[in-house]
Amino acid sequence: MVKICCIGAGYVGGPTMAVIAFKCPSIEVAVVDISVSRITAWNSEQLPIYEPGLDEVVKQCRGKNLFFSTEVEKHVSEADIIFVSVNTPTKTQGLGAGKAADLTYWESAARMIADVSKSNKIVVEKSTVPVKTAEAIEKILTHNSQGIKYQILSNPEFLAEGTAIQDLFIPDRVLIGGRETPEGQKAIQALKDVYAHWVPEDRIITTNLWSAELSKLAANAFLAQRISSVNAMSALCEATGADVAQVSHAVGKDTRIGSKFLNASVGFGGSCFQKDILNLVYICECNGLTEVANYWKQVIKVNDYQKNRFVNRIVSSMFNTVSGKKIAVLGFAFKKDTGDTRETPAIDVCKGLLGDKARLSIYDPQVTEDQIQRDLSMKKFDWDHPIHLQPMSPSAVKEVTVVWDAYQATKDAHGICILTEWDDFKTLDYQKIFDNMQKPAFIFDGRNILDVAKLREIGFIVYSIGKPLDPWFKDMQVMS
Ligand code: UDX
Ligand code: UDX
Ligand code: ADP
Repeated sequence: MVKICCIGAGYVGGPTMAVIAFKCPSIEVAVVDISVSRITAWNSEQLPIYEPGLDEVVKQCRGKNLFFSTEVEKHVSEADIIFVSVNTPTKTQGLGAGKAADLTYWESAARMIADVSKSNKIVVEKSTVPVKTAEAIEKILTHNSQGIKYQILSNPEFLAEGTAIQDLFIPDRVLIGGRETPEGQKAIQALKDVYAHWVPEDRIITTNLWSAELSKLAANAFLAQRISSVNAMSALCEATGADVAQVSHAVGKDTRIGSKFLNASVGFGGSCFQKDILNLVYICECNGLTEVANYWKQVIKVNDYQKNRFVNRIVSSMFNTVSGKKIAVLGFAFKKDTGDTRETPAIDVCKGLLGDKARLSIYDPQVTEDQIQRDLSMKKFDWDHPIHLQPMSPSAVKEVTVVWDAYQATKDAHGICILTEWDDFKTLDYQKIFDNMQKPAFIFDGRNILDVAKLREIGFIVYSIGKPLDPWFKDMQVMS
């Protein structure tokens, strides 16, 4: 029986291993983590991450061929294939701070593998890492090898949160990079055999190590670039009277461009896009490729611009001040169907509004009050380091309330911001909400999910990203 161990029971490691166990009953899969609370949660009824369909998959296999454990060393030493899926946040200090990936967790995992291994291993990079990380890991392992042979593979994960199970069940492709030696090819084949249990052969792509590592960064950069492109267009649409939804529909019909990932929004978030582009920028700079670095940097700058633009629109339309006004924030997660708030645009929008002294009432169906307070009180770049939590700033606590209901959040509010496209927000009773709000009542739809005409009929002043503006906003623009 092949034994797999995955180090890191997070958003990537957890769902990916659950699906491998589900699809390969003949393989024993152990997911290990240094976080006792995370492992306890994986072994409980309340899994540590919200992901549609995940519960069923875990329930089917847990205790049979899927195990969650804190006995990291035991499971690593017993495994044939070790996936490393630890966090690789952006460095906050030292060389490359703010751009380079922090490989501390990766390095400590690699050293631990070298310490406890008693048989040959295939070590698989699952977390997104800078190109050439595999080489560094290989060096750590071989310099501490004690006669044991290691093969390093890069097998980047392309799942998106909120659709992880579906993405894992029917992936567009599985990418495996390895050394071009006979041993490297054998290792690739061993991993290919795992995926071949459910993924058609023609969807499994094999490349060299560096291509696989770079492809992951490139894919995320291309996806983020599409969003920044359409968001840049949204600003121009508002200025000209064009409708961004009509523009993206027309543009996306060109099969060379394609229709997906062209939704204008308040900005992209998530643990990958910004981090991976910063990483790409850093790699370009290290290689003296300044123009290439600047090209990709612009994707992040447009994203920051979009978030600022949204905040400015709110403040300017509400008579140039939100001081003391209650603003309801509906949605805090970086996208729907997840409770994840890493790099969510909601953090920057809320901070922008708090900077103008607004009072915020926040509701998200999946994000806890603790998480929101933590996100709003932490400095940029600290978010991925829960261990180094800073004390909450008293102003964040005072001006932010987190509630468990959209009606409560919007009661007596001057304005509503939609920051996550949760389906539930489409079917709220907006007449009831309007009746309980201060007038004029504003809605700022940062995800373009609401029926603008209907809301205007009720009496709301509505702003949607990249859509023809209400006369109100044009008047206020002139004022500000
Ligand atoms: C383009 C648009 O494709 C067309 O829809 C529009 O109506 C007019 O402009 P055209 O300029 O005729 O058409 O040719 P196109 O095939 O788009 O190629 C433009 C240039 O891009 C060429 O120099 C081509 O060699 C280059 N190209 C194209 C690449 O370098 N790489 C590619 O992958 C595709
Ligand atoms: C992304 C990649 O899609 C995935 O392949 C990779 O493995 C990890 O990074 P994820 O961050 O989970 O996945 O979610 P994704 O669906 O890509 O959304 C990222 C952000 O872009 C979200 O904030 C989303 O709201 C935003 N977005 C997405 C838009 O603003 N417009 C769009 O058209 C699509
Ligand atoms: P991702 O979104 O990439 O899956 P997460 O932060 O959700 O990232 O998950 C990474 C997990 O890796 C965390 O639960 C963390 O505790 C775990 N981890 C980090 N370093 C180690 C290590 N050396 N050994 C075991 N687990 C680790």
